Amino acid sequence: MAGMRVPPQEDSELPMSRPPPPPAAGDLVSDDDRSVAADSWSIKSEYGSTLDDDQRHADAADALAAANFPAAISDYSSDKDETDANDVEASMLGLQSYWDASYAEDLANFHEHGHAGEIWFGNEVMDTVATWTKNLCLNLSQGGNAAAQSNHISESGETIKDLSSWSVLDVGTGNGLLLQALAKQGFSDLTGTDYSEGAIELARSLAVRNGFSNIKFVVDDILETKLDRKFQIVMDKGTLDAIGLHPDGPIKRIMYWESVANLVSPRGVLVITSCNNTKEELVQEVENFNDRKYGGKDADQEASGEPWVFRYLDYVRSYPTIMFGGVEGSRVCTVAFLRS
Ligand SMILES: C[S@@+](CC[C@H](N)C(=O)[O-])C[C@H]1O[C@@H](n2cnc3c(N)ncnc32)[C@H](O)[C@@H]1O
Repeated sequence: MAGMRVPPQEDSELPMSRPPPPPAAGDLVSDDDRSVAADSWSIKSEYGSTLDDDQRHADAADALAAANFPAAISDYSSDKDETDANDVEASMLGLQSYWDASYAEDLANFHEHGHAGEIWFGNEVMDTVATWTKNLCLNLSQGGNAAAQSNHISESGETIKDLSSWSVLDVGTGNGLLLQALAKQGFSDLTGTDYSEGAIELARSLAVRNGFSNIKFVVDDILETKLDRKFQIVMDKGTLDAIGLHPDGPIKRIMYWESVANLVSPRGVLVITSCNNTKEELVQEVENFNDRKYGGKDADQEASGEPWVFRYLDYVRSYPTIMFGGVEGSRVCTVAFLRS
């Protein structure tokens, strides 16, 4: 699987472009229509069955960079052909056929060499997300700042204090390593889903090999989820990014919010880690979702004083920042939202 790494700092000087513009509603593109192109991009790549990790990381970083910091950097790009090529490569990461091919390669690599595959955004970000999420949960259950805005309660109505009783879902779990990192922090009710069967097979194999056979893995498309339970914590590391890179990304992002809202328990938390959106953009997207859902018109919500589905809670402050075009920002953001 080609992976998303934090590109080296000097890459920030390279021209990058926006993801493809929103399609007209009648122009929806199916994954099937594009699978041939996606497969040929993945399979005919020069990596072959023996992986050249450095090349793959560089290639993936280029593809993802095409969607990083869109607003600031699109103005900087002057090469139309290069922009179009980046758009095409970037949009591959929104296709299931791309991920199926990637995880087939990762699985072969796991069986041959025992490799775990990509850690998206790198080890440091994964560990930060796991420890930060643990602290957020402890803070919520101990009546800290976040809890002052909400009393965190379980589905049965009890205040949750013990991490092992927090149910956690990781959507688009990939190789499932984030769930292993959360298990090391003390969480034990852990479920990972991914629409790629190869990802789930890889995640299961790695969990068993590393002594985490209690983690549950299920093949499931977040946009058409078949899960029939809710979770107190829903994690997303790079999945909304990937969904947004589909040629119908803007529409699929709207579907994502509808779907994920049904998976987070009341007073539960959604933790999103993204490299394609800033914290401010994610907060704005949530506000748009709230407006679409309630728009101040829902009497029950207004009566309860909560005319929102998700509300911004907190974000990770410890990621390194870079300066670009006089603006300071980080390449990755992790933001938590509280479910009403
Ligand atoms: C950038 S990777 C991140 C993988 C993993 N979360 C991590 O951090 O290592 C995006 C993942 O989202 C999965 N994915 C994309 N769209 C999805 C969807 N609609 N439903 C479920 N999984 C999806 C892909 O198969 C892929 O595993």
